[in-house]
Amino acid sequence: MPDPQITQRAEALRKALNEHAYRYYVLDEPVISDAEYDRLYRELEQLEQRYPELITPDSPTQRVGDKPLEGFKQVRHEIPMLSLGNVFDEDELRAWDKRVRELTGLEEVEYSAEPKLDGLAISLMYENGQLVQAATRGDGTTGEDVTANVRTIKAIPLRLRTDKPPARLEVRGEVIMPRSGFEAYNQWAREHGEKEFANPRNAAAGSLRQLDPRKTAGRPLSFFAYSMGVAEGVPDFNKHSQVLEWFKTLGIPVNPLNRVVKGYQGMLDYYRWMQSIRDDLDYDIDGVVFKVNDLALQEKLGYATKSPRWAIAHKFPAEEATTTVWAIDVQVGRTGSITPVARLEPVKVGGVTVTNATLHNEDEVRRKDIRVGDTVIVRRAGDVIPEVVRVVGEKRPEGTQPFTMPQRCPVCDSVLERPEGEAVTRCPAGLSCDAQFKEALKHFVSRKAMDIEGLGEKLIEQLVDAGLLKNPADIYRLNKEQLANLERMGEKSAENVLKAIEKSKYTTLPRFLYALGIREVGEATSQNLARHFKNLDAIRNASIDELQQVPDVGPVVAEHIYHFFRNPKNQRVIDELLAQGIHWPEIPDDEDKPKPLAGKNIVLTGSLASMSRSEAKSALQALGAKVTGSVSKNTDMVIAGDKAGSKLAKAEQLGVPVKDEHWLLEQIQQARS
Ligand code: IVH
Repeated sequence: MPDPQITQRAEALRKALNEHAYRYYVLDEPVISDAEYDRLYRELEQLEQRYPELITPDSPTQRVGDKPLEGFKQVRHEIPMLSLGNVFDEDELRAWDKRVRELTGLEEVEYSAEPKLDGLAISLMYENGQLVQAATRGDGTTGEDVTANVRTIKAIPLRLRTDKPPARLEVRGEVIMPRSGFEAYNQWAREHGEKEFANPRNAAAGSLRQLDPRKTAGRPLSFFAYSMGVAEGVPDFNKHSQVLEWFKTLGIPVNPLNRVVKGYQGMLDYYRWMQSIRDDLDYDIDGVVFKVNDLALQEKLGYATKSPRWAIAHKFPAEEATTTVWAIDVQVGRTGSITPVARLEPVKVGGVTVTNATLHNEDEVRRKDIRVGDTVIVRRAGDVIPEVVRVVGEKRPEGTQPFTMPQRCPVCDSVLERPEGEAVTRCPAGLSCDAQFKEALKHFVSRKAMDIEGLGEKLIEQLVDAGLLKNPADIYRLNKEQLANLERMGEKSAENVLKAIEKSKYTTLPRFLYALGIREVGEATSQNLARHFKNLDAIRNASIDELQQVPDVGPVVAEHIYHFFRNPKNQRVIDELLAQGIHWPEIPDDEDKPKPLAGKNIVLTGSLASMSRSEAKSALQALGAKVTGSVSKNTDMVIAGDKAGSKLAKAEQLGVPVKDEHWLLEQIQQARS
């Protein structure tokens, strides 16, 4: 027997490791680094190696079994695992709420609102605080015993975090694979010739059905609990939300986006909120779930054949659909990048008709082996450009050909180039390629650049095709007659366009720089350049070294900028633009201006009423702040506008101060006065 001190140390280590897991998975507030955690873990592992009698089944070192299973045992659920009824739109949701109100006799019902996690339902049985069995839902009555695999999921405690555990507690919830983990796993699978998964849900399901738990242990699975099954020796609760709170105290993760809402309007607001933050989450959700929060009312409402009357899933419109590829074209981007695009048989995805999908680049088309005639799954998430997820192999017709990149630019016929080690094929013709020229002009007039309202994409194309625009400076030489003579234009609209063109002459240096469309120089870099050099001549004459002094400008971007201004054609265009009267206010020396937010890390979220996100960002930077994209312990404050989502939630969780737009406007005012 090891001496009592060692036994105590092992026990203390186990306790500490479990407590840190609780802080990490349940509270999302780790107090030690991963490296420190690993150090404690290894210390325990070494103790247990020397004194195997110290090993307990719930030790954090005992998650992974060492031999594959023969198969999965069947498990009969003591209480059936039901599914949920669905609604697909607001009217159906309203009708469902109405029925609940009628059946309960209440005017307004309180609901627990939860994301509908797109993973795999699982039942966890704890006896006297120990995890003794984990089972899949199966057909709802009988599932499979996946205990060995579930034990490898670090978010699931092997022992409940309490000294007085209930005799028996069945926790139900969803096993999920986070998107980041899914991407990383597929990348690994690609590199090692293993099978990739089509989506995180399949990945979670496939991982749980692994016969070798050592393999499951390598899969990045996670878990959120959403209900209680068998409950013996469990405290009395009045509300579902209390059960979930209690779960958390036991070390069982519960989704942090769950809320208690009131009535139809509360549900609808929650649905819209989830829809707006859905793309920012690190896991897939396919809708939201509403549950009558009062447990006595749940009992009163009871069950229909397959699902409870007290809960409903409000599904998001499907983001994936099946269609066929009519053709594969290539598109020329502003910087000459050639993007293959699939022309599709029109199909509704997520409420919008999709006819094109980006195929990204040559390697991507090869990897997915997308061919004309193929049946494909297309996906459209949020505002992102639709893409082809994969080909439905079984449906490939005979005689299809693999895709090959054209040799020549479809617009200007230049021979295309694909530099060694790069994924992108380019047309090298620059602005002498009409496609690139049109894109450059569209960029030049766009809202964040010269902001010429009314001079839209169609009009630019007409003007270029009519030979009226040969370089951006020609915009400022257009006259009313030329414009009014174009198709779909009249005197009035011609006048308006001319007014907008005139107005755009008074701009800012950052906007002008951005409008030039220098490769890799976006809005932020343009602002940094302007702030650093103060005037255009200084930027035009700057050496590569000097350019690299600007925040966020590395060697590659510095080269792009340097060469852009050395190009005689670009020099001429700039001079012509200036000669046409484009000007901007001088940038004052702001060295001695107060910087009230110097050194502060600030995150912007949601939309502001009085300014765009990028305007707010530069205003904050001018006050000395560093504006970052995600909330962490190092964030000093979050400025939240309308419809703020997960970043706000995260700030609240971490106790980061939250300010509003009004506060920001005040800071700007004060710094000015
Ligand atoms: S409650 C009787 N809550 O959706 C109600 N289910 O279509 C049992 N799901 O099998 C389910 N997120 O796998 C509930 N917050 C949530 C959920 C959720 C995802 C899944 C679950 C269930 C399926 C029902």
